[in-house]
This record gives sequence, C-alpha cells and structure tokens, in this order.
Amino acid sequence: MSVISVPHAYNEDELYVDLQPIFGHSLFLKCEGFNFAGSIKLKAAAEMVEAADRKGALTPGSILVESSSGNLGVALSMIAASKGYRFVCVTDSRCNLSTRLLMEALGSEVHVIADPDAAGGFLGARLDYVRALCASDDRYVWLNQYTNPGNWQAHYRTTAPAIARQFPQLDVLFIGAGTTGTLMGCARYFRDRRRRVRVVAVDSLGSVTFGGPPGRRMIPGLGASVRPPMLDQTLVDEVIQVDEADTIRACHRLARRGFLFGGSTGTVVSGAMSWLAGHDARAVTAVAIAPDLGERYLDTIYQTNWIEAIYGAGVLRDDGDAPVQAACPQTAS
Ligand SMILES: Cc1ncc(COP(=O)(O)O)c(C=O)c1O
Repeated sequence: MSVISVPHAYNEDELYVDLQPIFGHSLFLKCEGFNFAGSIKLKAAAEMVEAADRKGALTPGSILVESSSGNLGVALSMIAASKGYRFVCVTDSRCNLSTRLLMEALGSEVHVIADPDAAGGFLGARLDYVRALCASDDRYVWLNQYTNPGNWQAHYRTTAPAIARQFPQLDVLFIGAGTTGTLMGCARYFRDRRRRVRVVAVDSLGSVTFGGPPGRRMIPGLGASVRPPMLDQTLVDEVIQVDEADTIRACHRLARRGFLFGGSTGTVVSGAMSWLAGHDARAVTAVAIAPDLGERYLDTIYQTNWIEAIYGAGVLRDDGDAPVQAACPQTAS
C-alpha cells in the first residue's frame, strides 16, 4: 500500500511493456505516465522546485513561470497547487486542449502563444514572452527547464538507476529528445558508471536539436525549434529522426492492442523499431522510455479528422500490422 499526502510523492517507476508481441522485436517500454501529473515531467518539475526552495528562491508571494509544451506545465501546476504557489504556464497553440484545461483546473494561468517567432519558432516566441514577464514583475520565478540542471539531474537520480536495476545487461536505450533532460540525465548516468550502453536519441523530423533543418511539427513533447542548451552530443551514440506520420502509425498500432500512449512514445517506439530492424537484434536487450499516456491526445493523434487534415487520408492505411482477430475461439454452431 502507498499512502501519500502530497501528489508528487507517488510515481510508478517499475512498469515496462514488452513490445515483442506487437512489433516483433524485443523492446521493453518503460512507462512514465503513472503518476498524478500523468507524465515523466513530474520528475523534472519536482527536482527543480525543490532546488529553488532549498536555495530560498521561492517565497510565499512567488509566482512560478515556465515555458512548456504541456506536460511540465501540468506537473508544475500540481506541485504549485500543493505548495501554495501561483503558476503561469506559457505554451503555444500546439498544446492539447485537455492539457490546457488540466492546468487551469489545477489553478494555473495559461498563456497561449499563437504566432511563432520568425527565427526561433514557437519556442523562441514562448521564451521571449517569459523573459518579458520576468522583467515586468520581480515576483516571477522562472525555473527554466531548458537550462536548469535539476531537469537532467532528476533522471540521473531516478530514471536511469531504475532502468539499470532492472536491466543489468542493457545494451541499447532509446530516449526521446525535447529539452534533452531525460536524455542527458540517463546518458550521463551510464557514462559515469562506464556501462557499455548504447544511447540512441530519438527526435522528430523538423526539429533542429541535432542540426537538421527546421520543419513543421504538430505533436508536442519531442523536438525543438531552438537547439536545447542542455544537450551535450558527445554523450549520445546515435540519433534517429522520425517522421510524424510514423509516430501516428506507431501510436495507433499500440492502441489497437489496448495500449494508449502519447505522441512522443509513438515517435520513440517507431525510431527504436527501425533501429532494431536494421541490426541483428536477437540477443540485444533494449529499453525505450514512454513519457506519457494517450488521453491527452484524443482530439489530435487519435482523432481521424485531425490526422487526415495534417498528414493526409492514407496515413493510417499501412502500419505493417494486420488487424487483431477477435479473441473468442470460433465454434461451429
Ligand atoms: C510527452 C513528452 N515527451 C517527451 C518529452 C521530452 O522530455 P525531455 O524534455 O526530458 O527531453 C516531453 C517533455 O516535455 C514530453 O512532455
């Protein structure tokens, strides 16, 4: 039994889905969506707020402010509510409606940026907005997930050791890259312990994180229009970029087997499966990280009109998976 008195005290860190039966390659998917914030961002949020508290940066009148594509915003909304702080989330028009409503339900103020910056895209525009808010009133405290070491340290302290404990023979770890907090925390942990784990970063096509040209990206979570300052590419063995159409296909393939995951999980799984298909992976122990679950994406990734408007009508036609047959045995009558 777990008994808690603050919402951030609970997190399921030991749940994996074996994707072999669904995709035909062995991959253990670490599920990070089972906590009250519904995503992996609970860890970064808790670590950053705790560090700010320790440093005395937060006082009863403080207003937390953060730029977030959604999940960090939800986690900070939850923690701010629990600790009695105000929180302002600066997001953009790609933020899911349900994510925005969640933040508001938790008492936060949400500012939605509708116009991307000509050079820095939506992220550049969001960061400019946060800087302007902080300059306007010194009660604002910007944790800044893009530069705050607490972001990657949370994963160094929790996510990576949890994986290392369960998979002492781990060969390959697939991690999606947003701010690169998860990627940097896990990669540093295995590098510092001289564990021969191949760290593969998975990014969305159109993201500039690893130097590719900017392009349209509609799914929040992974990718960036400004290179993440936290990224140290020497810690990354390989990078895979995934087209969002493949993200959609992977999400739907999982959903047809009863696993409703978020968009970045589809991206990471799609990237991991193409990597595994291109290697002799029979004796490889591979883990991938699933940052959240699918409910927040019902009106986007799991909505036919949205998918067809953005990716075209044929996107779901061939995802390589035959429809699942009815489970009931057929009996002659
Ligand atoms: C759904 C989802 N996936 C992936 C990520 C990326 O994680 P990180 O910022 O640690 O790179 C995020 C971060 O916000 C997210 O919300």
